[in-house]
Amino acid sequence: MFPEIARDDIFRLETERLWLRWPRAADAPVICRLAGDPEVALKTARIPHPYESYHAESFILSARAENASGEGLCLTLTQKRQPDEAIGVLGLHGAANRGVATLGFWLGRPFWGQGLMSEAVAAFIDLVFGMTSLERIVSSAMPTNIASLRVHEKLGFTRTGQGLCLAPARGGEVAAEFLELRRGAIPTTFGARRPKLKST
Ligand SMILES: CC(C)(COP(=O)(O)OP(=O)(O)OC[C@H]1O[C@@H](n2cnc3c(N)ncnc32)[C@H](O)[C@@H]1OP(=O)(O)O)[C@@H](O)C(=O)NCCC(=O)NCCS
Repeated sequence: MFPEIARDDIFRLETERLWLRWPRAADAPVICRLAGDPEVALKTARIPHPYESYHAESFILSARAENASGEGLCLTLTQKRQPDEAIGVLGLHGAANRGVATLGFWLGRPFWGQGLMSEAVAAFIDLVFGMTSLERIVSSAMPTNIASLRVHEKLGFTRTGQGLCLAPARGGEVAAEFLELRRGAIPTTFGARRPKLKST
């Protein structure tokens, strides 16, 4: 799904305040601490809780393998003023052959409420529709997860229904609001803010 430029770990995506880059082994301790926060983990389908260091290490290895294969793209968010310090993760996964892939994201609690995830996801979506032939990005959030729903809404996602979503880390299925974004549906405020790509 993703072209050569994104399949090498020198790939970078720049936004106004952030660098997005491949997860690396050195991110494991901070990912473990931030994703280990129940306020983060329990709102997601796939972050285990409690979260141990081997969870972070195995997440980083599998994200890098997926990135290298081009079947998905999972990036660590860092602030430009502290580019070695991971603050969150976003990614797009799988099912490219059906013209649709799934978005996921989380941000460490100390960084909430500053518009950082909206900024990151806006640039990421621009990148995805610019670099791939995907027609549709799908996502889901727990109906009580107002912040996540709001991030999706700001970026032009529409709600497509409610139901149960497979949440392996929550031990089964959880109630979910399903969302989708079709190519060309990005609001101009975000669509106009083109990401800057760096490959060196
Ligand atoms: C969801 C998450 C990534 C949002 O990150 P963030 O950087 O704080 O998000 P932003 O600041 O870009 O946007 C959040 C929006 O939600 C709004 N919001 C947050 N909590 C809210 C609440 N309780 N009621 C109403 N609005 C709320 C904010 O005001 C903001 O909207 P605005 O820009 O219109 O004011 C972060 O809260 C998180 O990681 N949560 C835990 C993991 C998670 O939920 N992942 C997503 C799983 S689907």
